[in-house]
Amino acid sequence: MAVANKKIVFLTGAGMSAESGISTFRDAGGLWEQYPVMQVASHTGWLQDPELVTRFYNERRKQLFDTKPCDGHKLVAGLEQNYDVVVITQNVDDLHERAGSTNVIHLHGELRKVCSSRDVENPACWQVLDRNNWEVEPGTKAADGSLLRPYIVFFEEAVPMIVPAAQQVGEADVLVIIGTSLNVYPAAGLVNYVREGVPVYLIDPKEVSVPIDLNITHIQAGATEGMERLINIIGI
Ligand code: OAD
Repeated sequence: MAVANKKIVFLTGAGMSAESGISTFRDAGGLWEQYPVMQVASHTGWLQDPELVTRFYNERRKQLFDTKPCDGHKLVAGLEQNYDVVVITQNVDDLHERAGSTNVIHLHGELRKVCSSRDVENPACWQVLDRNNWEVEPGTKAADGSLLRPYIVFFEEAVPMIVPAAQQVGEADVLVIIGTSLNVYPAAGLVNYVREGVPVYLIDPKEVSVPIDLNITHIQAGATEGMERLINIIGI
């Protein structure tokens, strides 16, 4: 009988994509220093000025098509050869998928997708944009006649993928947290679902305050070097 592979669950944030050239949010010079977060990334902000929000995410999407996965993303994907790997990401980019990861849960939405503003989860209204068609003209309508909006979980909105994500963390044999300040809930609360005794690795060049007391090894490095060190520790 085949023996099931160990399950490694990754929880990633903006620092995972920093080496691909995408700004983090809360580091010095980060995105939320340049843009008022509640204007461009909240439900209220969307209702008040959908044009500003549409243009903000157009810019992010355009930049995404000029970036590539970093070696850190590729090392995460490469572990699928020997482990059952689940990536839970707060990132709205598709760099994990482009690096080859096949099991990715996006907690905060997907930049390449746009949707109905009446019913975000109605797949009939989803559109996936690409390199040659990245821009949404403000005022464009979705198939149901509502304004087309970015498929992004705005602040003040529910996070539907938190339930499957929590289940995956609860089944993890190893949890690896990469490049997140753990400032934003409910994503940060996922660490509460780790089973007792499960090793937790945290890859981040800075100290990160983790909300509960866990069996944590901090690998103080960027995503790529951190992944190389992790692989040396756990073995491929
Ligand atoms: P933050 O900007 O809050 O945190 C980024 C983390 O990445 C920090 O701990 C940095 O030290 C770390 N970091 C920086 N460079 C790194 C590198 N090269 N390798 C590894 N780590 C590095 O970003 P998030 O925690 O992802 O949500 O932010 C969470 C959410 O807040 C985002 O998903 C976004 C934002 O508002 C929405 O917009 C809904």
